[in-house]
Amino acid sequence: MMSILAKHSGIVVDNSKAKQMNNELEARVSASFASSEATKKENSSVFSEQEYLHYDGRHYDLIYENYCLVPKLTTLDIPFWLDMASQYGDPILELSCGTGRVALPLADKGFQVTGIDIADSMLELARKKSAQVEWIKADIQKFDLAKKFNLIIFPINCIWHLLNIEAVEACFSCVKKHLETGGKFVIDIFNPATKASLDILFDSKKNLYSIYPHPDNKGTVVVTYSNELDLTQQIYKTKLFFKLVGEEQERIEEITYRLYFPQELEALLKYNGFKIEKKFGAYDGSPFSSNSFQQIFVCSLQD
Ligand SMILES: C[S@@+](CC[C@H](N)C(=O)[O-])C[C@H]1O[C@@H](n2cnc3c(N)ncnc32)[C@H](O)[C@@H]1O
Repeated sequence: MMSILAKHSGIVVDNSKAKQMNNELEARVSASFASSEATKKENSSVFSEQEYLHYDGRHYDLIYENYCLVPKLTTLDIPFWLDMASQYGDPILELSCGTGRVALPLADKGFQVTGIDIADSMLELARKKSAQVEWIKADIQKFDLAKKFNLIIFPINCIWHLLNIEAVEACFSCVKKHLETGGKFVIDIFNPATKASLDILFDSKKNLYSIYPHPDNKGTVVVTYSNELDLTQQIYKTKLFFKLVGEEQERIEEITYRLYFPQELEALLKYNGFKIEKKFGAYDGSPFSSNSFQQIFVCSLQD
């Protein structure tokens, strides 16, 4: 999810700091990578989804708290979501809430929030952080909470987890059932339809992603990533390479996402019962344009 953001430095990254940080980090880890390529074949393994470190709440938080190229990435969108909550009210439902990065600051401001996610490990950590949010294990493609919400939010690129049109339609159908009349459904997703975006998506080089302390004090974990894009299916795969500094073993996790292009998403919303009321190109509320980094949709139910 986040590797894309790293490269869109014009909007979110302090370029000079990121560069300096990157150089320092690369120097620190270059030794540990020297042998990595040679040993990769024998020592690498692809883990099943349940075992993903990326979806292990403790690792997930540390990965993004120590994300290499975008300082404060984990809080960049919070003012935007607080603004949405102030404008449209609660109760709020967050789809794919993870460990509560967005739900928690909303609840801290007094909004009534429910978060759903499919991963036990993410929810386990979320529950430890706060009991103010209602955390529910559910699949965003088939949930029934027997409750309606004034605001349903789908933060940063989580819609990428819906890997085909049927999955999006199933999710939108659930959203429709849970949205109050007059309520808003807000989606934030990266815009793949710019030259800069496609350059990044097609860049298959290995880059530094995160360096973080192992949550069980096993040492320092270095994460690098590479991208692979199949535009015929709009499937984008990120390989994350995890390595403990000083150890030979490298662990590989491949995460599969689906990109959504602007007109495709507009059509999907329209033909699944939503009216697009606003479309922003960034968190500051600027209108969506050909060069926009993001597509942010504010939708309501069709009459
Ligand atoms: C990258 S995390 C984002 C978490 C949080 N929204 C944030 O911005 O920090 C994506 C989350 O989507 C969840 N997820 C993936 N597929 C899902 C599904 N079908 N139903 C519910 N959650 C899902 C994962 O478990 C993970 O917690």
